Amino acid sequence: MGKIGKTVLSGMRPTGPLHLGHLAGALRNWLKLQDQYHCFYTIVTWHALSSEYQNSKVIKESTFEVAADWLSIGLDPNKSVLFIQSDIKEHAELHLLLSMTIPLPWLQRVPTFKEMQRELPDKDLNTYGFLGYPVLQTADIIIYKAEIVPVGEDQAFHLELAREITRRFNRFFGNVFPEPQILLTEVPKLAGTDGRKMSKSYGNAIYLKDSKEIIRKKISTMMTDTRRKRRADPGVPDDCPTFTLHKAFVTEEKIRELETGCRTATIGCLECKDVVIESLIRILSPFWEKRKKYERHPQLVWDTLEQGNKKARRVAQKTMEEVRRAIGL
Ligand code: TRP
Ligand code: SF4
Repeated sequence: MGKIGKTVLSGMRPTGPLHLGHLAGALRNWLKLQDQYHCFYTIVTWHALSSEYQNSKVIKESTFEVAADWLSIGLDPNKSVLFIQSDIKEHAELHLLLSMTIPLPWLQRVPTFKEMQRELPDKDLNTYGFLGYPVLQTADIIIYKAEIVPVGEDQAFHLELAREITRRFNRFFGNVFPEPQILLTEVPKLAGTDGRKMSKSYGNAIYLKDSKEIIRKKISTMMTDTRRKRRADPGVPDDCPTFTLHKAFVTEEKIRELETGCRTATIGCLECKDVVIESLIRILSPFWEKRKKYERHPQLVWDTLEQGNKKARRVAQKTMEEVRRAIGL
């Protein structure tokens, strides 16, 4: 099907239903890639556990939500391998083997290790498992000999470290793994309903599975440029949280028109918001249809993941045979 030989891998933590930020930042790109490359997309349950171990029972439900969202938005099990990380035990074995070679300071200087502890003070993240987060991520990637890893800027440090870890393995044990390359994905900054960055933890997200009515309500009450107190006051679209949604989900032509309308106060905010609301409804209508089907028949989702697991496992097992041989075990 015209795919070139390269392998892509990326992962998402199961934190619950996905929102517009996931669509604009990752999924749209993943959809494109699945037509060009051999793609592996994984729900990284063990990574979720590294910060949710006090609340581990939520992971399974979140895994379902993510998978249902993936399938409904068009990730296609006939094009991509969609699987659950913790169902492929080989990742854990490779994580262990890699861990033998990695100098502790490499992990201690990972910025997110300290940052997350500061940001989430109610969780004890000063753990062995959390320190090893980037090691597990490396195992996820190289066990499929993935050459391309599409991620946002926030993962750049992890990817650089994954490359270092891979080089070190290859130097000790022989050239088993290609060095994975980061494919830096441009992640548009989407504002949530309160004007801050859209995020589940701020409670300001617009979810893919939100209904038409909810989307309409969330966006029509969303913050706009504070200059537009009255209809006749001109505004600055770049200072408008709602306009971050336009930039991600409305055509360029329409954007330019609305920009002028806002600056000259020839359109009102409600009218402007209507454009992005209608655009989202158009984009998400087929998604909602499919998702309803998966909600009615959750087993379809689990069966699809199980098929993906089987494909992933075959590749991972083959790699691990090579790894054990290279090390001499
Ligand atoms: N750490 C990534 C994140 O938080 C998730 C992840 C785990 C991942 N394993 C991966 C991403 C492998 C890319 C490749 O978003
Ligand atoms: Fe924002 Fe549009 Fe209102 Fe301008 S007209 S402030 S861009 S919602």
